[in-house]
Amino acid sequence: MEAITRDFFLFLSKNNLLNNIAKKRGGSFAAGKIIGGTDFQSSIKFIKQLNESGLLVTVDHLGEFVDSEEVTRERTAECIETIEMISREKLNSQVSLKMTSLGLDIDHKLVIENMTKILDTAEKHNVMVTIDMEDEVRCQATLDIFKQFKEKYSCISTVLQAYLYRTEKDLSDLAQYKPFLRLVKGAYKESPEVAFPEKADVDENYKKLIEQSLLNGNYTAIASHDDQIIEYTKTLAKKHNIPNSMFEFQMLYGMRSKTQLELVKQGYQMRVYVPYGLDWYGYFMRRLAERPSNIAFAFKGMVKS
Ligand code: FDA
Repeated sequence: MEAITRDFFLFLSKNNLLNNIAKKRGGSFAAGKIIGGTDFQSSIKFIKQLNESGLLVTVDHLGEFVDSEEVTRERTAECIETIEMISREKLNSQVSLKMTSLGLDIDHKLVIENMTKILDTAEKHNVMVTIDMEDEVRCQATLDIFKQFKEKYSCISTVLQAYLYRTEKDLSDLAQYKPFLRLVKGAYKESPEVAFPEKADVDENYKKLIEQSLLNGNYTAIASHDDQIIEYTKTLAKKHNIPNSMFEFQMLYGMRSKTQLELVKQGYQMRVYVPYGLDWYGYFMRRLAERPSNIAFAFKGMVKS
């Protein structure tokens, strides 16, 4: 039953018609519950509050699978503006973005051009930019882009997904770049040809990757709401005397807020992923796929709006 619900929401996450309806309805229903706001400006106050409570932030301008060159250029300009505002407002925040929002599905040259503009600004303001990882068919292209830019820029990081069979090798191949990495379980619908179908195998692989990444000396973000994974990381760090400054925990905004603050109290670095913008539909459907109990609070929000 759990697998059927998951597949259902992952299927819905790619429905263009529903996505357009969600955009037109505006973000009022999602804002403040699973996203920071409908634009970056309206999220600033809120990010400051998170920073004041000891939480680090990464912001994500929602939007993916963009098929218009013009829209990718708009996204690039918005991202640059966001980085400049982070610097101006002295926010303790990084930026996360998806390569399909910058033209990965349109033209390789276009993504490179857009990313160059973004990273020039990020480097100038010392704001870290993390390339989110999307579905498996785009994994190699995304890693190639990361490697190309990592040669020139220090303010770039990317994500590896524990559910993919290929990830252990990807992590070894990336070692020479001394990368900043975010490790996650993986959020897309993948076939058993490329990804572990069983959750227990994903969890085991996740632990293996955390160990490999930390022992390689990579600065590692462990992005999970799973207590088992969090406890594993703490124990591993203690066993190998890995200082808290070499890793951080990350969680999505709206999920496990008390645990986030508890980790800060315990002396760990904790970063909250705060999405903003009108394009919240695909993001929201993936969150429902991960945890159907989110449905209850989502529908409560819908009735209110
Ligand atoms: P999982 O969903 O496997 O749950 C395990 C257990 O954790 C549950 O059984 C429960 O006990 C507990 N738990 C989970 N959620 C809870 C909640 N809300 N409240 C209480 N308990 C809860 N994916 C991707 O493919 N590409 C990417 O770039 C990113 N980026 C990213 C950034 C950040 C900051 C995060 C946190 C996640 C991502 N992801 C992602 C999503 C990721 O791949 C994954 O789908 C989700 O984090 C869900 O997996 P978890 O490890 O959180 O636990």
